[in-house]
Amino acid sequence: MNDHELQRFGVSIGEALLEKFDKLIAEQGYTNRSEAIRDLIRNRLVETEFERSSDARASIGTITLVYDHHTREIGDVLTDIAHDHHDLIISTMHAHLTHNSCLEVILVKGCGKEIRAFADHVISIRGVKHGKLVITGLVEDE
Ligand code: NI
Repeated sequence: MNDHELQRFGVSIGEALLEKFDKLIAEQGYTNRSEAIRDLIRNRLVETEFERSSDARASIGTITLVYDHHTREIGDVLTDIAHDHHDLIISTMHAHLTHNSCLEVILVKGCGKEIRAFADHVISIRGVKHGKLVITGLVEDE
C-alpha cells in the first residue's frame, strides 16, 4: 500500500449527518475532512486486524467498564471471569466513580480473537452499563 498515491472518491451522505461530523472534527482540531476520514478508516482497519488475529502475541487492548456495584454479585462474577482468563489479563484498575458506579479498566494482551470474546463476555454481564474494547498492537509504519 502506498499512501502517497492519493485516490479521490465521492461519498453520498445526509446533510444533517455531515454537519455533525464537520462540527465534531473541527472541535477535534482537524483542518480538513479528508484527514479525518483517513484517520477513521485507519483506526477501523487496525481494530479489525487485531480483533481477528490468532497470533497469541499480536494484540494489546483495554476494556473499559462502567457498572453499578449494587447489582447482585457483579463483583464476584467479574472476578471469576477474570481468573478464568488470567493468561490474557495484565492488570486491572478500579475507580469508585460515584456512590453507585464503578469504573474498571482491564489491560489485556494476547490473541486478538480471545480478547474480543473475553471483552464481549464481560461487557454483556448484567449490571455493566457501558463497556468498550479498544484494541491495537504493534503497528508497523507504512
Ligand atoms: Ni467501585
